[in-house]
Amino acid sequence: MFMTDGLYQPSLTRQPIMSATAMPIEEFVKQLDELAHRATTAFEVATDADSLDEARVQFLGAKRGEFKSLQKNMGAVPGESKKEAGMKLNAVKKTIQLAFEDAQVRLLGGAGEAAKDPEFDPTLPGHSFRVGKLHPITQTINELKDIMGRLGFTPAEGPEVEDDHHNFEALNIPRSHPARDPLDNFYLSVAQSQNNDSTLADNPLLMRSQTSTVQIRVMENTEPPIRIVSLGRVYRPDETDATHYPMFHQIEGLMVDQNVTLADLKTVLHLFATNYLGNDVPVRIRPSFFPFTEPSVEADYFWNGKWVEFGGAGIVDPNVLRSVGYDPEKYSGFAFGLGIERLCMIRHQITDIRYLFTNDVRFLRQF
Ligand code: PHE
Repeated sequence: MFMTDGLYQPSLTRQPIMSATAMPIEEFVKQLDELAHRATTAFEVATDADSLDEARVQFLGAKRGEFKSLQKNMGAVPGESKKEAGMKLNAVKKTIQLAFEDAQVRLLGGAGEAAKDPEFDPTLPGHSFRVGKLHPITQTINELKDIMGRLGFTPAEGPEVEDDHHNFEALNIPRSHPARDPLDNFYLSVAQSQNNDSTLADNPLLMRSQTSTVQIRVMENTEPPIRIVSLGRVYRPDETDATHYPMFHQIEGLMVDQNVTLADLKTVLHLFATNYLGNDVPVRIRPSFFPFTEPSVEADYFWNGKWVEFGGAGIVDPNVLRSVGYDPEKYSGFAFGLGIERLCMIRHQITDIRYLFTNDVRFLRQF
């Protein structure tokens, strides 16, 4: 007999397939038990990936593994015992397989194929996935929309490029009003000079300076009762500093129905502030002026020991109701407009509005 490196073994060293002599079931079971014992022991004492693999080849090898060889003795078991022999064979196979898997988990941490890689170091920290998220302003918008939704206010939208009519005229802001000053607005003069349409001269385009434009757009197309909120960008050529930016976001609320009063406005603002900031947040109103509300108020809420400016509000001016074809004798309403950045900054203690727009991920990741 010549030596081999283990790849080939003369069949005489193992029981050949289909031995001529019959094998009693007792003998078959005994051989299987003995094999199960040796195999499970071998897996239990394996100390590393190599010795485990050696044992695997010896007992579970697909070609010349010991289990495979014993399986071939099935042929020698008498017919009436075949069923019992088959069941025993399956049970032993399962036992050996489980012992192997246990050892695999013990030695390789159960990492399967990757764990067999000699370069694989299960003690190194893994690669974490960086899950993106919504911008803090978008998160705030979603939350505010949610809160107002629970109070029965439906979201509404309007364009950011607006015309004079919706940004000023229909809101009862007269031609002479300083809010229309070209230095305080982003008029789209280039677009206009290229367009000889005479209606544009009367009704120039601009980046909207307030979301109150949406009040008009909704009322033009809807009959009362109305309860809407509009959240979006507005533009003003302000000098940039910690609290000003030439683009920011507003939330506009509008409710029109019969007998709507300042008490309704105050209740909604109170519920709104309390829902957004938590606990019971007191709200106060002070007299103010806006061309499109009468009376007009400035609303504040009490937060961290002081009164904080909320935004402008008031009872919709009868002239505005008339401009959209409502009967001011029949309907009344309230409107409010609040800065979203300010709400977001207060809640998260952000000290400079510019953090919100410079897109530094070290800042954004914190939300
Ligand atoms: N549009 C006003 C502003 O931008 C706020 C406001 C909205 C006031 C609705 C009254 C009613 O300052």
